[in-house]
Formats: sequence, C-alpha cells, structure tokens
Amino acid sequence: MEEFHKVRRLPPYVFEQVNRLKASARAGGADIIDLGMGNPDLPTPKAIVDKLCEVVQDPRTHRYSSSKGIPGLRRAQAAYYARRFGVKLNPETQVVATLGSKEGFANMAQAITAPGDVILCPNPTYPIHAFGFLMAGGVIRSMSVEPDDSFFPPLERAVKHSIPKPLALILNYPSNPTAHVASLDFYKEVVSFAKKHDIIVLSDLAYSEIYFEGEPPPSVLQVPGAMDIAVEFTSMSKTFSMPGWRMGFAVGNERLISALTRVKSYLDYGAFTPIQVAATHALNGDGSDIAEVRNIYKRRRDVMVESFGKAGFEVPPPAATMFAWAKIPEKFRHLGSLEFSKLLVEKADVAVAPGVGFGEMGDDYVRLALVENEHRIRQAARNIKKFLSTADDTMHNVISLNTRR
Ligand SMILES: Cc1ncc(COP(=O)(O)O)c(C=O)c1O
Repeated sequence: MEEFHKVRRLPPYVFEQVNRLKASARAGGADIIDLGMGNPDLPTPKAIVDKLCEVVQDPRTHRYSSSKGIPGLRRAQAAYYARRFGVKLNPETQVVATLGSKEGFANMAQAITAPGDVILCPNPTYPIHAFGFLMAGGVIRSMSVEPDDSFFPPLERAVKHSIPKPLALILNYPSNPTAHVASLDFYKEVVSFAKKHDIIVLSDLAYSEIYFEGEPPPSVLQVPGAMDIAVEFTSMSKTFSMPGWRMGFAVGNERLISALTRVKSYLDYGAFTPIQVAATHALNGDGSDIAEVRNIYKRRRDVMVESFGKAGFEVPPPAATMFAWAKIPEKFRHLGSLEFSKLLVEKADVAVAPGVGFGEMGDDYVRLALVENEHRIRQAARNIKKFLSTADDTMHNVISLNTRR
C-alpha cells in the first residue's frame, strides 16, 4: 500500500538508527555514554516542582486550561523580554504560550504556509525548522548558518531566483547544532533585508540563556522595526531544565502571533494549568537557577574540549548551547557521519548525533551533547582514545558495518 502523502515527506529519523544500535548495545550489557540526544539531564529546580505540586491540589486547575496561556504566564514572559532584552511586548497581542517551542514552531508553519511557499532554512539545523514547513506543504531552500558577511550573498540569490518569492527566513542563534551565536549587528542587517523584500523572520532562541562567553545572545526583536516582520520562539526546556513539561513561547509581530493563536485554538487547550502556574513562577524568579545551569554546562564543556582533545578528537569549544559541533577525525570522514556515529557506539560505547541528521551540510560533523556528567564525559574521552589508537588495526571491520545490519 502506498505511504500517505505527508508521511512520505518525513524520512526515517536518522537519529533513530543510532538509537536502535544504542539500545541493542545496552541490552547486551554495554555501558553506553550518551552524548547523542539534546535531552537535558538536570532536574527541574525544586521551587518550580514545589509550585506545581501545590497548585495541582486545587481541583479548579484540573479543567481545560487556556490555549494561548494564562494571563499571568504571558505577562511573565513579557517581563522577561523587557528585563533581558529591553523589548516591550503586549502580553495580550504579542505573546502566546506554546506546548514547547517545537510545537509553536510547527504550528506557526501550519498557520502561515500555502502549498509551494518557499522557506529559507539553515542547513544544518534542528530538524523541525525544515520539516515543520515540509509538513505544511512548503518548499525548503537551504541557507548557510554562519552569521557573518558570507550569509548575505546566498540570501540575495535565493530571493532573486525563488519563485514564488520566499515567504519566510528561519534563524536559529545560538544554533543547534553548530553553536554559532549571532550579533545584534547581524540581526540588524537581516531585518533590514527582510523588510526590504517583505519576508517574515522566524527566530528560534531556544538557547537564549545557555551561553558561556561574551555578551548574552541578543533577540532579533531588539532591532528597531523587527516587530513588523519577526516572531521569536523561546523555551523553558533548557533554561529551567523543564524539557518534559512542554512549555515555550512565541512572541513578536501581532499578525503572526494572532495566526498561530488561532490555529492553536482549534488544536489544543493549552498546557495543564499547574504547569503554566509553575512556569510563571520560574520566569518571575531571581535567575539564580539559570546561572547554576549555565555553570554546569560550562564545566562540562571545558572537560569535554580538554579530554577529547587529549584523546585525539578535536572539539572546538562552543560559545553557547548545550552542544559541541565537532568535525569527524580525518581518517574517518569518508565514512560519513552516520557510519562514524554507529562505529562510536560499537567500538567506544559512546553515542553521538550524526551531523547528517541536521541536514546534508552537516555530514562531516557529529554533535556532542553536554548531557552526561563530567566523570562520564572523561570516560567517553578515554573510550574514544582507545578506539582511535586501535582503529588502524580494526579499520577492516569498519566497512562491513553497512552490511551487518
Ligand atoms: C533549536 C531548538 N529549538 C527548539 C527545540 C525544542 O524545544 P522545546 O522543548 O521547547 O520544544 C530544541 C530542542 O532541542 C532546539 O534545540
């Protein structure tokens, strides 16, 4: 029987192949150190969990909630933008709560895309940026990720040669997976370009608070006039270690926020009220929990860069996000990122995310998530060192991996 139209547009998740291998190695007793999935391992701060437990006792909170977010939550998100970015938002018209930023992004795509609309999307990038639009009937044109002067010539070509003219440009800084961070000057140029060509800007700022160097990452909405064309997505998942709670936000241009709110009003009743109240409590906190999370990731980053480097696997230090983006050691690069990742599971008991899972331009890389403790990261480096030092003797096994499945 033929596959459904939408399902055909969704290739099997590349990460699933590494996950399967990981599961079977574990079933065989291996202690796999998992640097693959970007699933924060830190517990949600106690005050947030306590607030949830308190509120859930009230039966009135067990009813359907508000799809666009309870008013206090939207006010708290607006206050965060004012405090952190100096951006003034109207919580009634310019803020909507989402079931995680992934859901918000995907439903924004549903809300604004007509069949065949062209979307400019970074490559490599977090998969929902492309697949959210593909599922909505859009067409993807890949853009480079580097937020510097090299970004603009391909952008100009894309606008000149795409028919119809692109509907939207997706930005994701700090970037998953590459960890690039954009400056406010870069955003100014993007906004000026997008306004000139009447292109919507969708900025995914999921890692707004996970940074280790320099200035905190800016918001595209800090650019004067950006509100005319831009929406930005943020997430509670990383900032407050709340990935399973499914709480995020879209903020910005009223017309776009209203379109997303409308679509969501047909699809969901919002997050469980106790989660919304606890999230409000988190956003209104003093920020000490965020600083602590940042420090833990920074220490892990430093341990990874140092120990992997000594093991012969160079890992550039990411300035932000919870990921390092590392080029596959030269002698393995011809294998591609999926086969190299499988090899690491099989021979070094280490799981990583193959770069190709983020787009074809990522195939020379793997992504290493900072989601294991420092001790386990050091152990991963030791395993990799051993694997690299014996690889020459065992390389004849490498090729057969393909056929062993
Ligand atoms: C760039 C980026 N955007 C969005 C998300 C999804 O976050 P949420 O848990 O808020 O849906 C992630 C999660 O890994 C991410 O890396």
